[in-house]
Amino acid sequence: MKIFAYGIREDELPALAEWKNENPTVAVDYSTGPVTAETAKLAAGADSIVALQESPFTKEAFAALSDLGIKNLSVRNVGTENIDFEAAKEFDFNISNVPVYSPSAVAEYAMIQLSRALRRTKPMDAKVAKHDLRWAPTIGREMRMQTFGVIGTGNIGRQAIKILQGFGAKVIAYDKFQNKDIQAEGLYVDSLDELYAQADAITLHVPGVPENVNMINKDSIAKMKDGVVIVNVSRGNLVNTDDLIAALDSGKVSDVALDVYEGEVGIFNKDWTDKDFSDDRLADLITRDNVYLTPHTAFYTTNAINEMIRQSFDAAVAFAKGEEPTIAIKF
Ligand code: COI
Repeated sequence: MKIFAYGIREDELPALAEWKNENPTVAVDYSTGPVTAETAKLAAGADSIVALQESPFTKEAFAALSDLGIKNLSVRNVGTENIDFEAAKEFDFNISNVPVYSPSAVAEYAMIQLSRALRRTKPMDAKVAKHDLRWAPTIGREMRMQTFGVIGTGNIGRQAIKILQGFGAKVIAYDKFQNKDIQAEGLYVDSLDELYAQADAITLHVPGVPENVNMINKDSIAKMKDGVVIVNVSRGNLVNTDDLIAALDSGKVSDVALDVYEGEVGIFNKDWTDKDFSDDRLADLITRDNVYLTPHTAFYTTNAINEMIRQSFDAAVAFAKGEEPTIAIKF
């Protein structure tokens, strides 16, 4: 059996080596670039391919893979919004993703960034770096005294709730699909508007599906408390960046933690030192004292990488054997 993997990074190699050790009968080859119609030929002879969300999985790519007799795609991350499922169906593909590689990795990061924003560590660090060792004006807010609004109570949102409760904070939550444990705890409010009205800080844990696109915009922000803090480690398209910048300018939003950004594809996870990435909005956000911007790193832990490799390669083997892995996507 042969698996070809796309977009393999150096930091994934130890996890890949471990998986290969445990699966010595499977031949594995890989490239560092994405799957496209042009790069499909690299996988010739493979039974399954493994890939990462980097750029769109297009109809042309599915057609080229299908011409080579390849019908199995295992994506090694959660998000599948860039897959052309209609084309995948047309070419009779099996597809899996890794919906749960480490909810804690993402939830912990969101909560770290949220605590940083509330305690204003970015301006304090900048002051200390200049040897300005005064306390004022960098005064913070205590976690336990806030009401936190968690939007989305899937694996990551629920983990975030546990962490926030550990701080002794009041947590309210909203999700169209309610979870019975969160229901039993009585955390759900009936509407997003209710959550916006009550929360001192809001953290987003919903997918970037069409109905959620730009859910954080000037209208929803207007319904929030003055000085609200917003955390987005989920998908860049959840937030209307222009409206967010206007709300930061007016002070309506006091601080924001963004690990994702509307225009991140092609910019994040690249070294731009002394180079221009030609996105003025992003450059502006990065310089602000009250914007905690990171390049989609919430997921990035050793444990998460190990799980992404292990689960996606296991699913690729299952597909190649004609089995249905538990993480196969029904579409
Ligand atoms: C996902 O798993 O969908 C992520 O957002 C992280 C990924 C882009 C590596």
